Amino acid sequence: MVKSVILAAGKGTRMKSDTPKVLHQIYSKTLLGYVIDAVNNTDMADENYIIVGHQAEKVEEFVNSNYDNAKIVVQSPQLGTGHAVSMVCPHLENYSGEVLILCGDTPLITSDTLKSFINAHRELNSDITVMSAVFENPTNYGRIVRKAGGSVDSIVEEKDATQEQKVIKEINAGIYCLNWEKVKGAFSELKTNNAQGEYYLTDIIAWGNNNNLSVNAHILENNEEIYGINSKSNLAQATSMLTKRTLEKYMTDGITIVDPNSTWIDPQTEIGKDTIIYPSCYIEGKNKIGENCKIGPFAHLRGDVTLEDFVKIGNYVEVKKATIKSHTNACHLTYIGDSEIGSDVNIGAGTITANYDPLSKTKSKTIIGNNAKIGSNSVLVAPVVIEEGANVGALSVITKNVKQWSLAITRAPMRVFEGWVSKKLNK
Ligand code: UD1
Ligand code: MG
Repeated sequence: MVKSVILAAGKGTRMKSDTPKVLHQIYSKTLLGYVIDAVNNTDMADENYIIVGHQAEKVEEFVNSNYDNAKIVVQSPQLGTGHAVSMVCPHLENYSGEVLILCGDTPLITSDTLKSFINAHRELNSDITVMSAVFENPTNYGRIVRKAGGSVDSIVEEKDATQEQKVIKEINAGIYCLNWEKVKGAFSELKTNNAQGEYYLTDIIAWGNNNNLSVNAHILENNEEIYGINSKSNLAQATSMLTKRTLEKYMTDGITIVDPNSTWIDPQTEIGKDTIIYPSCYIEGKNKIGENCKIGPFAHLRGDVTLEDFVKIGNYVEVKKATIKSHTNACHLTYIGDSEIGSDVNIGAGTITANYDPLSKTKSKTIIGNNAKIGSNSVLVAPVVIEEGANVGALSVITKNVKQWSLAITRAPMRVFEGWVSKKLNK
């Protein structure tokens, strides 16, 4: 088992935000959440140390309320990436296993890549392994300087690089695997004699060579995975890349995505085969969509939604925190929230589950039994139960439970005044 160190103390100035950079979200998950999950999903890490600095309390609160195996380590002031990692030294004094180091602002990294990286470190019998990548435009990244024989000599930061080194296209991806017992000594020996006056983590490479350690680089296959977030524009770009990856996977699994360019689905959503997602849908959070469903166009699923097979969620329908059983339709202009809906139910156009009481600020549940039919433009004021087979007449406001197989209707009866118009017009 490895221990991970995730660097998340940086300021994130270019986000121009009151929210710490790593707490910005892609769909319903924070950037840091993606990284911790990627590490945890390798099943190779038992403990994660999160290095925090700027707005440490907010990041700490997020970590503590979401992860049992993550520990917060505060770095203050922030004197560089090497200084950041040195903060865990007191915590890992007696540890002799492997340490995986990564950054909290690269949400696209996958567990598979981390697994093969750790395995490569083991197979190479390496003491220090750095993940590298080949970039057409390597500007701003640290460059991997190799020795004549091909092994890694050092990493040189852009600001410290010579013209010759600047043309190197192999860059430091910022992910490392260390044999902690052999490398921990490096952290008390790092110096700040560089262009930025910082303690560079990258200097452990040269340190390793000077101390006769085995130093290697493992080349990343998909450069997208180390895409770092520094601005709102990067955030949008990462959302788009993650979405593309997710939609490809759905399509491979037999789901029809009519227009991938206008479809946004959180990777935490599961979808069954033969379901069709029509254009312009936004699906966020953890949802479970069954097989043979039809979603959209223009549908919005907001999380905690379970749809059984053959459910239809049509245009301008918003659903959150709801379970909808098979063969039920809500095809037009509807809001379904905090609801349990049976099978073979028809939800007429314009139906609203009124789940929120703004005075008490509480939410209540709507329960609809199998085979019930809800007429168009009805408001179901929760808490309310529409029992099996019951019908609600169109334009009703339902404030009391409706017994099974009965009809509830609250609209004024229709009246016809014959000749009323002609009388007005004196015809
Ligand atoms: C770093 C690497 C560079 C690599 C690049 C990959 C160093 C010296 N350089 O450069 O070789 O190509 O990442 O993205 O390591 N952080 C802290 N505490 C600090 C400083 C930074 O926690 O004192 C965190 C930041 O929040 C960030 C990460 O460390 O998540 C990387 O820091 P950053 O300043 O972005 O390093 P780069 O200059 O990009
Ligand atoms: Mg960076």
